[in-house]
Amino acid sequence: MWPVTLDSERMVVRELADSDAPAVHKWAGDRDTVRWVPLGPLDHPGTAQYVAQLVIQAQRVPRLGYTLAIERRSDHALLGTVSIEIDSFEHKRAELGYILRRDAWGQGYATEAAGLIRDFAFSQLGVYRLWAVCDPDNPASSAVLRKIGMRLEGVMRGDLLVGGERRDSLLHAMVVTDAGDPDPYL
Ligand SMILES: CC(C)(COP(=O)(O)OP(=O)(O)OC[C@H]1O[C@@H](n2cnc3c(N)ncnc32)[C@H](O)[C@@H]1OP(=O)(O)O)[C@@H](O)C(=O)NCCC(=O)NCCS
Repeated sequence: MWPVTLDSERMVVRELADSDAPAVHKWAGDRDTVRWVPLGPLDHPGTAQYVAQLVIQAQRVPRLGYTLAIERRSDHALLGTVSIEIDSFEHKRAELGYILRRDAWGQGYATEAAGLIRDFAFSQLGVYRLWAVCDPDNPASSAVLRKIGMRLEGVMRGDLLVGGERRDSLLHAMVVTDAGDPDPYL
């Protein structure tokens, strides 16, 4: 499906364009922001290449990856990206991710964007199971996942090599029928 546009009161979540590269560099080039994400930090040409790849990926048929720009409605500033990656059409399963530039943190933007793309995944893409991982030392990300209705399913030990260090991942997920259900394990 292309192009995708998702709307809420404060933001428009839309397809990336090559011309977004300088704005994307605000987070893709920031060491602290990409600390727990398998990305960069990238230099300017690296960011341009990264955005170009995402633009190409968006045109693939069938489309697996939806990395969308989070644009603030009030000033059209690019705050970050939110993504869905279909990892199995057969099982109707997709991974959720997000990254925001540092000066946009703590204002509920990630939760709002993740909620929009969760609804898109379930209602438009026919996803049944939506999952996400985050680092145990990234409590803001865990909070976002819980706030959009995901449950903590477990710890994936030694899941990632980040900067040469083995890191565990916290696996969170929800299925389409979870909407409105309280977590029975909390
Ligand atoms: C993780 C990230 C996306 C959060 O974005 P955000 O827009 O600040 O998130 P929100 O404001 O929607 O929600 C953050 C929640 O985390 C909570 N939080 C923040 N820091 C926290 C901490 N140290 N401990 C516990 N909770 C924390 C906030 O209180 C908020 O919850 P609340 O609204 O119930 O108070 C953002 O920090 C980011 O882009 N980080 C770098 C990239 C990254 O880590 N991406 C995720 C990879 S899994």
